[in-house]
Amino acid sequence: VVGTGFHARAGGPHAEALALADAGPRARAGTAFVTLEPCRHTGRTAPCAQALVDAGVARVVFAVADPDPVAAHGADVLRVAGILVEEGLLAEQAARSNAAWLQRTRTGRPFVTWKYAATLDGRVAAADGTSRWITGEAARHDVHLLRARSDAIVIGTGTALADDPRLDVRLPGVSTSRRPLRVVVGRRPLPASAKVLDDSALTLLLTDHDPASVLKALAERDVVSVLLEGGPTLAGAFVAASLVDRVVAYLAPSLLGAGVSALGDAGIDTISAALRLHVDSVDVVGDDVRIIATPVRGE
Ligand SMILES: NC(=O)c1ccc[n+]([C@@H]2O[C@H](COP(=O)([O-])OP(=O)(O)OC[C@H]3O[C@@H](n4cnc5c(N)ncnc54)[C@H](OP(=O)(O)O)[C@@H]3O)[C@@H](O)[C@H]2O)c1
Repeated sequence: VVGTGFHARAGGPHAEALALADAGPRARAGTAFVTLEPCRHTGRTAPCAQALVDAGVARVVFAVADPDPVAAHGADVLRVAGILVEEGLLAEQAARSNAAWLQRTRTGRPFVTWKYAATLDGRVAAADGTSRWITGEAARHDVHLLRARSDAIVIGTGTALADDPRLDVRLPGVSTSRRPLRVVVGRRPLPASAKVLDDSALTLLLTDHDPASVLKALAERDVVSVLLEGGPTLAGAFVAASLVDRVVAYLAPSLLGAGVSALGDAGIDTISAALRLHVDSVDVVGDDVRIIATPVRGE
């Protein structure tokens, strides 16, 4: 390996540019392995396909074709220049790790991850409304990593009023400049003292309950990945609208019996209509269990 790189943020240098700079003249006659087909357009950065040609790379192996009509077909630029091009290596893994951007590019709407923390019997708050802290410190740290990878964090007024969360990114020992947009959906006013209204990040207040309208408003603000941290009402509305792309559940080894269930009315009233999920991973995080699952659609 003579050079490596990754695309850290929109508008920043693409992986190819960084890897070629890292490799210098040693890139000549080499093979470039990339997750996404090298772009052929000049956007916020220079075209990567041409940069690979100019560096004298002999072979390019990419996992997933670029679905962006403006940037796509960089492979043609490479082939015309005599570079050997192969497509499809580890395509599934690359598509999963780049799911948010691929979906946003293909459909125009942001990728939604619904995250919740519940007891083993699926309660996200006790009967008296208390919910802090269901899961332990390690799981909470993990949530901050999720936030750091998101462009927007969405809750309903119910959660804002009950829990008064700040929705910021706190990762002791990790430097991050990420400040996801905070979004509160609902019509009830928030007190001026609400932590979500402080100046630690921007906050958007939306009164339209329709999840599709919420996502449209976020797409207009260049949001690619959404972390839905709302309560059961908002989560139910997103599930009912088929607008949840991934579920991250933190399950604590505790039982409440009575209390608020993780998901409210999602328009599902019989077992055959249950939203089935494919389990992507199950991990122990501190004392809790994290399950990442993806809805199985089109059945
Ligand atoms: N453990 C966890 O992971 C977790 C996470 C979040 C919340 N919670 C708990 O959940 C409870 C709050 O539940 P919640 O369901 O009230 O919270 P929520 O879903 O965050 O907020 C619900 C409110 O949002 C507004 N809203 C936005 N979109 C809506 C839609 N499509 N349909 C209906 N209403 C919509 C409504 O308020 P308006 O009348 O103002 O429009 C509604 O009352 C609290 O006890 C909190 O602690 C737990």
